[in-house]
Amino acid sequence: MEYLPTDYIRFGDNKKTVVFLDQTLLPNRVEWKETANRTEMYEAIRALKVRGAPAIGIFAGYCMAVLSGAYQTQNVHEAMTLFKTDAAYLNSSRPTAVNLSWALKRMEKVFAGALRQGLDAAKARAAEEAERIHEEDIAMCRSIAEYGLTLLHDGDGLLTHCNAGPLATSRYGTQLGPVLLGTERGLTFHMYVDETRPLLQGARLTSWELYNAGIDTTLICDNMAGLCMKEGKIQAVLVGTDRVAANGDTANKIGTSSVAVLANYYHIPFYVLCPASTFDGATATGEDIVIEERNPDEIREMHYREPMAPKGVKCYNPAFDVTDHSLITAFITDRGIVRPPFDTNLRHYFS
Ligand code: MRU
Repeated sequence: MEYLPTDYIRFGDNKKTVVFLDQTLLPNRVEWKETANRTEMYEAIRALKVRGAPAIGIFAGYCMAVLSGAYQTQNVHEAMTLFKTDAAYLNSSRPTAVNLSWALKRMEKVFAGALRQGLDAAKARAAEEAERIHEEDIAMCRSIAEYGLTLLHDGDGLLTHCNAGPLATSRYGTQLGPVLLGTERGLTFHMYVDETRPLLQGARLTSWELYNAGIDTTLICDNMAGLCMKEGKIQAVLVGTDRVAANGDTANKIGTSSVAVLANYYHIPFYVLCPASTFDGATATGEDIVIEERNPDEIREMHYREPMAPKGVKCYNPAFDVTDHSLITAFITDRGIVRPPFDTNLRHYFS
């Protein structure tokens, strides 16, 4: 079977718009959206229409190219001020994934540099850089897939949490890269997919991607992972990440840290798959990572036909948690497999 890669984010005609698949409608509706509007771009990230750390970074690149491409001023200082304001606005849409600020800083740097040749040059350079960020991510995912595959075996049962597949990145994805590549090469994997409450990225997105790729996929509720491990169904856990601190502490979708604790108890390898763009050497430990807190209604009523809790009941809805580096077996990156001690080894790979 050959996996056919798709790009879920791209420029629209003449690079005047950004086009993206609305992930909130999956798996029931495959709907593409197109926008050149700043508020809609912000909302697309905030509402998780575009989600997953690398995908948010790629999207932000295209958004800044589209927004700056429409600047009317001929004054370069004014253009730079507009650029910074737009970038700061998009950056405020979600706090945890470092890829967002990483991509925006990168766009700002090239825009500022090219402005010396004038506004048209800066606009062209921004469009080029957005495509470059995307192309680099495709290459990084492919490389992660190759490295990851060296750690998996034909017939393995693999547990996933959240979604770090092609939807969340580009082409092969991070977490699903070795699985898609291995399947292409004739290996068989048995995938166990945590549904990932409260927003069900596992049920809605990961199982959709794996099922469509013809891979043996079993959806489980989050609280079933421990039993599956105990029953010997799981040979490795694969997750993505939104930010890796300098010491290896890793932020990812809420519930990841509990899965890591379980994997540790059952002596199952726990692998974090991520590109270089997710490593944040400026953040010392997980304590310093800002965890996004989302609307309580996502727990009380979203994805239910009727509210599933009393309207006024208090809810705590952190979108991410931090997995302590001591629970991570290895990081599978585009530059190789990084094993402990993470504080020195991550810096070695990413500096
Ligand atoms: O809230 P989400 O759906 O954006 O959370 C996404 C995750 O936690 C992913 O695992 C992470 O961003 C890595 S995507 C390669």
